[in-house]
Amino acid sequence: MKILGISAHYHDSAAALVVDGVPVAAVQEERLSRRKNDAGFPLNAVEWCLDHAKLDPGDLDAVVFYERSMLKFARILTCTLRAFPQSWRSFPHAMKNSLGEKVWVRGLIASHLGVDRRKILFTGHHEAHAAAAFLASPSPRAAILTADGVGEWATLTAGTGARGEKTTISLLREVRFPHSLGMLYSTFTAYLGFAVNEDEYKVMGLAAYGRPTMVDQVRKVIRRTPDGAFAIVPEYFEYQTTAARSYSSSFVDLFGPPRPSYEPIDVATAEGRRFADIAASVQRVLEDTLVDIARALQQETKLPDLCFGGGVALNGLANARILAESGFERVFVPPAPGDAGCALGAALYADRVYFNNPDRDIPDHPFWGPAVDAAHLARAAREDDQHVDELDDAALVERVADDLAANRIVGWMDGASEYGPRALGHRSLLAAPHATAMRDRLNRDIKHREEFRPFAPVVTAEAADRYFDLPAGGARLARFMSGVFPVRPEWRAGLAAVTHMDGSARVQVLERSMAPRLHALLEAYGRRSGIPVLLNTSFNVAGEPIVNTALEGYSTFRRCGIDALVAGPAIVTKRATASAKREHVA
Ligand SMILES: [Fe+2]
Repeated sequence: MKILGISAHYHDSAAALVVDGVPVAAVQEERLSRRKNDAGFPLNAVEWCLDHAKLDPGDLDAVVFYERSMLKFARILTCTLRAFPQSWRSFPHAMKNSLGEKVWVRGLIASHLGVDRRKILFTGHHEAHAAAAFLASPSPRAAILTADGVGEWATLTAGTGARGEKTTISLLREVRFPHSLGMLYSTFTAYLGFAVNEDEYKVMGLAAYGRPTMVDQVRKVIRRTPDGAFAIVPEYFEYQTTAARSYSSSFVDLFGPPRPSYEPIDVATAEGRRFADIAASVQRVLEDTLVDIARALQQETKLPDLCFGGGVALNGLANARILAESGFERVFVPPAPGDAGCALGAALYADRVYFNNPDRDIPDHPFWGPAVDAAHLARAAREDDQHVDELDDAALVERVADDLAANRIVGWMDGASEYGPRALGHRSLLAAPHATAMRDRLNRDIKHREEFRPFAPVVTAEAADRYFDLPAGGARLARFMSGVFPVRPEWRAGLAAVTHMDGSARVQVLERSMAPRLHALLEAYGRRSGIPVLLNTSFNVAGEPIVNTALEGYSTFRRCGIDALVAGPAIVTKRATASAKREHVA
């Protein structure tokens, strides 16, 4: 059975193809369209998935959209009318966004793909999140938690899943819009001058510089309810009535003036510390709330495994606390817990639940995207008069380890690209993890990021415990970089480029079987430096999606301070220009 899953029209559109119960292709539209967080209908992604599997749209048994668009429209309409007359200004905006395309999704898909309308199905938005988290995990029976901004009505769901002869996903309880942990965090993201739906992780990064001194104020805007859930206090928010602003003047009275987005944050100033303290406070309240909800779910279900999905599951600090404090032995967060991952979740949900197909084990990796073509890279680099070597695997790994040990920055492309927001070893920039000078160089020459944002390390599974303080189950959470854990104090100075202000790191723990070449490289680097750890950051420059093709990698390499570029057997280095040679001598 061939099922195409689609997520679109909010942010991070994607397509995923499931054949006979197993994913064969999945990619975010932004990787192909080259527009970051592309929310358009994912025509490029659909086309690539079908091409990759050598299928025509007519071969598909079903096309599944990741939310019930009529329900979502009903929610927007209801909220708008409830808030009338304050909301009348936002109504045309909401209508344009919703009515324009989202509601008529069936016709849109049928016309774009030329498939029979009867083959077009829908899942609930949180059912798609739940399926992405549970059905791709190795757990046969698990508690399921999802949390995001909002789907149709739900913003958080809790339930259970069972795989086997018959697959069930039972979402037993939900919290409904406007009460939303995702919207709460996004509101603070906007207040702190960052881009909503994109820069939430900057709030988490900033939190490490602050102290949670304003937890009481945050608890004034979101209250716990007697049933163990939570409710926002509407007077502090405006997102439920207008698309123009997420927080109200009462919110500003409580927390002070918001940060203008164009002003840099300097945590050495009182104003900078205020923003860091607010970030730390909302982060603390988010963590506490999730831990409480997860603990109650564990006590109710008595299950050892939790599968956690939705955009809020990108919060690695919260995930680590859920693992440590909720009573679950293992916490599974998929590589794409956000809306992009819903394309795969929707396809899997339809396969197991709508069509009752038998359960299948899903390969435990994120590499479902287009493969890199090393021959393209070698040809382009030679035509551009750059230096190209083609080496066998063993020689290549030793050569790159030498480069890294000499403090060179390496663009590393290997096989199929990652599905989800994180580079997990197939489209990565790699560098020595030891000195803050390397972090600063990456920020200055390539990533152009705020100083307070940390870089992440990758470590071999065998050595992870030596450098990082991982609780039981921590390595699993770190498989897809989903947890933030302490760097062991004795290694913080030696791993300064990847240790955050508070001594933590969002580490990736790499098993050999997931990315054998990167694992071999870590071991080779360990033989040189004594530490099998590398700095691993996504292969892109600021404002661009992660590179997809060899030529995109090459173009990025030529434009910025990357010293060497690898794909397959090819390794490209820049021919030293006269001025660069002078710099080296200097
Ligand atoms: Fe979502």
